[in-house]
Amino acid sequence: MLAVDHGYFLGPTERLEVPRKTIEPLLPYADSLMLTRGVLRTSVDPTTDVPIVLRVSGGTSIIGEDLSKETITVSIEEAIRLNVVCLALSIFVGSKYEHQTLTNLAKLVDEGEKYGIPVLAVTAVGKEMGRDARYLGLACRVAAEQGAHVVKTYYCENFEQVVEGCPVPLIIAGGKKLPEPDALKLAHDSITHGAVGVDMGRNIWQSDYPVAMIKAVRAIVHKNVDAKEAYGIFLKEKEKEPIQKETKVLKAVSQSGSFD
Ligand code: 5RP
Repeated sequence: MLAVDHGYFLGPTERLEVPRKTIEPLLPYADSLMLTRGVLRTSVDPTTDVPIVLRVSGGTSIIGEDLSKETITVSIEEAIRLNVVCLALSIFVGSKYEHQTLTNLAKLVDEGEKYGIPVLAVTAVGKEMGRDARYLGLACRVAAEQGAHVVKTYYCENFEQVVEGCPVPLIIAGGKKLPEPDALKLAHDSITHGAVGVDMGRNIWQSDYPVAMIKAVRAIVHKNVDAKEAYGIFLKEKEKEPIQKETKVLKAVSQSGSFD
């Protein structure tokens, strides 16, 4: 899963300033695309057959009062109209708005179930959120108990414990941009320790060579290659790709903040 939903609270995130430019070259290599309706409507070819995972929670920004104060922002009718395969929503376990986000999840699952649309719960977003197995295990389990069909979380030490305690499939977010070999190791460790896949964003499209990077991550998920082999694929593929140019527009805004 390729994540390009960051703008819903970060605005024009670095190297996602012009969503169409970021998404277009990567789309052929993504199994699914996670984004908001605004970017789907404006920046994705409507004839694409790449399954869409629609972010339907929000209502906050990085400069606002509290990142956790999210609500459901898209109706189920709109999600059906957009022909999406899955609905995605963040929960903020341990935050001030924990209750609100967990009841958002329960309501969304109820709505989705009426039409057979699964829900992806996104856990542990936010600088102040713990990222150890104890916290992530709690957040993922709570998400599954509320009815999430798949949960997105972060990789951590003893990740198997998080996987074991969560009765639905887990996928991992990539997090902040890392050097490519480290990001590939993260993807490989996650898959090896029980994640069913990845939902990566910045570690793909903030790379100087995003297409090479998505191909390398894809090889880890689908071809069982290890991190070293995947880095070899990245090095080979990057020779075919021009280095990603700096986007000048909106740069000042794009650097306004980070959530992790
Ligand atoms: C933010 C999200 C992002 O989709 C998620 O963090 C994945 O992106 P990245 O790999 O850049 O962390 O859900 O709320």
